[in-house]
Amino acid sequence: MNVGTLPCRHAVFSASCALRSAPKLRLHRPDTVSFAACQYAICYHVISPEQRVRAIMSDAFTQVARNIGSDPAAAPVDPVLQASRHADFQANAAMAMAKALKKNPREIAADVMDVVQTDELIDKLDVAGPGFINITLAPGALGGMLEEQRADALLGYEPPAKQTIVIDYSAPNVAKEMHVGHLRSTIIGDACVRLLEWQGHEVLRRNHLGDWGTPFGMLIEHLLDLGETEATQELSQGDLNGFYRAARQKFEASEEFQTRARNRVVSLQSGDAETLRLWKLLIEQSQKYFMQVYGQLEVRLDGSEFVGESAYNDELAPTLEELRQLGLIQTSDGAECLFPPGFSNRDGEPLPLIVRKRDGGYGYAATDLAALRQRTQALHADRLLYVVGSPQSQHLEMVYEAGRMAGWLKPPATAEHIAFGSVLGADGKMFKSRTGDTIRLSDLVNEAIERAAATIDEKNPELSTEERAQVAQMVGIGAVKYADLSSERTRDYVFDFDRMLALEGNTAPYMQYAHARVQSIVRRAMASHGITADEIDQAAMIIADDAEKALAMQLLRFATVIGDVSDSLLFHRLASYLFDLATAYSSFYNSCPVVDAPDAETRLSRLALCRLTARTLETGLSLLGIRAPERM
Ligand code: ARG
Repeated sequence: MNVGTLPCRHAVFSASCALRSAPKLRLHRPDTVSFAACQYAICYHVISPEQRVRAIMSDAFTQVARNIGSDPAAAPVDPVLQASRHADFQANAAMAMAKALKKNPREIAADVMDVVQTDELIDKLDVAGPGFINITLAPGALGGMLEEQRADALLGYEPPAKQTIVIDYSAPNVAKEMHVGHLRSTIIGDACVRLLEWQGHEVLRRNHLGDWGTPFGMLIEHLLDLGETEATQELSQGDLNGFYRAARQKFEASEEFQTRARNRVVSLQSGDAETLRLWKLLIEQSQKYFMQVYGQLEVRLDGSEFVGESAYNDELAPTLEELRQLGLIQTSDGAECLFPPGFSNRDGEPLPLIVRKRDGGYGYAATDLAALRQRTQALHADRLLYVVGSPQSQHLEMVYEAGRMAGWLKPPATAEHIAFGSVLGADGKMFKSRTGDTIRLSDLVNEAIERAAATIDEKNPELSTEERAQVAQMVGIGAVKYADLSSERTRDYVFDFDRMLALEGNTAPYMQYAHARVQSIVRRAMASHGITADEIDQAAMIIADDAEKALAMQLLRFATVIGDVSDSLLFHRLASYLFDLATAYSSFYNSCPVVDAPDAETRLSRLALCRLTARTLETGLSLLGIRAPERM
């Protein structure tokens, strides 16, 4: 199909704009086959005003640079676009270019003004100071762009070609309490799942449960000591701390128990039926408890993604065999190891990935190698994400390198460590309970909901008891998630109920409240003026006032932000975008009456801005796994 012959349905995008972006256009939504849909898929791309201005200015600066240097192939110039106090943007590249080309920056700016190919988006350009170019946008063009964004299911985001993406996340350990690290992995992993599924990718969720290995000897023996009924009760109620600690204590205190535990490991590894039955019991009970936590957190984990370490047991020997055949295995101290180049310990000695231990057992690294092999070879994953704490970074990098050496992980497929920092208590130390234990995640979530309920009850007496409870649930869970996702992923953050539940600042309750407020304004205007939602959604969007323009510019950033976050998986950037959007909305609402707008046309246009804001906030929050109540 010839892209060039298709009419672009977007009146605002001139032919030059389409051409400029043509290299970036990819055929997306290939499942939509009708002509209209293809046309839509190929021609429809809302790029933000900022991106458009950047492209226009880059073209102009590049042309000037090529003219001055008489080099038609000189690299494109970054226009150094910034926010401006005097206009919407300023392009500052003239200064650096002048230095490099030994010219006067004002002359360069003047040359740029001569060659620049503006389009209807740009209202005016002028040179200021030593050679800044101030750029003012035409409000009229923004309205058209917003209407396009409103008409698109993905709010103007153009998804890239469909990929198969495996997300390894949550991954608690059986018969052990989930800790806050698992909470982070679960929350961040869930946001990855939501964002990438929303874009139409094939997402395969993998909960790489720690369900195999030597600790199971002692855990099974402890289970037998307690009796099955008693043990299963303890585990399914979520007293995983107590169970694990008691087993560990016995193991340390009694030689007799140690021997039993060791023998039990041997029976487990040799596939003894009774031992396997007891092992499964431990797994099932722990899974029940994990499912309960997932349910409380409202994450998209339904049990089908439990593909624990034990799932790769049959793959371990073939994986090792393949590595051997590739000549990648060396024996060291009786263990079969792979030494990926570039990894060494403090003394400069090469670090091994131990594939098979001296005693013949396979460990954590072997399982990860088998999993990587399966995910790339059998599942044909294009992108592998490992949502795991930062301390495991070296382990994962070594696994990826081994995968590359074995030829399993090869471009265009990628493996990325979605690393995250620790959760700290108010004292700045690792977040623990007062007794020094791991905090039970279900207690944590419950406390957040209870605290949210107290605030909601006080602030929203007009809501029914039931609705208040629902809102408290959304706010409590939302607060825990948002506190995590709005801080920079790789940094540590302090777990602080008061801060995460505050109604002011960059918090879930603030964002949820902002959304509910927009909705309530829309409801009020619809009721008092007899306007329908359809009328609003068909209304022309007219951008005139400065505050309208500022809000429009935020709304039009959505697709760019999503594009960035899909690559970086740094969700705090989405959170700060939503916060900026909510802030722009507040300023807009303070200076532009909606319900009491001067005329019907303005009222409808402003209501359309309100509805698009609400939808953008709601979409953004839902990608973070957070619900947005209609009222609060
Ligand atoms: N169960 C591990 C832990 O609790 C995390 C597993 C991470 N995933 C992986 N493929 N290694 O630390």
